[in-house]
Amino acid sequence: MAPIAIVYAHPYPRRSIAGKALVEAASKLEAVDVRPIYTLYPDFDIDVVAERAALERAKLVVFLHPIYWYSVPGMLKHYFDVVLTKGWAYGEGGGALSGKECLWAVTTGGDDVAYSAQGRHHHPFEHFKAPVEETMRYCGMRWHDPFVVHGSHECGPAALADAAVRFHRHLQDWQAKA
Ligand SMILES: Cc1cc2nc3c(=O)[nH]c(=O)nc-3n(C[C@H](O)[C@H](O)[C@H](O)COP(=O)(O)O)c2cc1C
Repeated sequence: MAPIAIVYAHPYPRRSIAGKALVEAASKLEAVDVRPIYTLYPDFDIDVVAERAALERAKLVVFLHPIYWYSVPGMLKHYFDVVLTKGWAYGEGGGALSGKECLWAVTTGGDDVAYSAQGRHHHPFEHFKAPVEETMRYCGMRWHDPFVVHGSHECGPAALADAAVRFHRHLQDWQAKA
């Protein structure tokens, strides 16, 4: 089974509803290594060696988190800063992630209407993915279409259960083809 690393960045995992549903669904698959970074590193002191080893073992790297201020939660940005450095992730002596696949899996508060030109966020959600997408492409990763659950704090348990099933199936289908 093709190995998957899930870097799960939820600042309050015990309060999470949407992210929790997704991470629990993914955890049922074989060969999935979930890295709940806020739980592993409560003082933000990320074990860079361990995280790099986890990413090196994976064929698909998933970054799973709630959208916070149109971006990643703070510790995931810190993770990018300290794990994806020159000489390992890119540049001379780098390329550790080159050719690996990357899936950005996120939950948002805003729904489809909010993420439109006339909506509360004034832009389609697509416009907010560029910093993460370009970071991963810079590291030579193959970027997948993101898995996005919109309106996640209002959509209700049935829609969340459906999203969890879709996420599980998405990863399972990838493993079947990988
Ligand atoms: C600090 C903070 C910032 C947020 N910023 C956004 C945002 O920019 N866009 C958005 O759609 N939702 C935003 N949200 C809503 C979260 O994305 C939403 O509550 C989360 O995805 C729900 O998942 P959970 O049940 O796993 O916490 C924000 C929430 C918090 C607490």
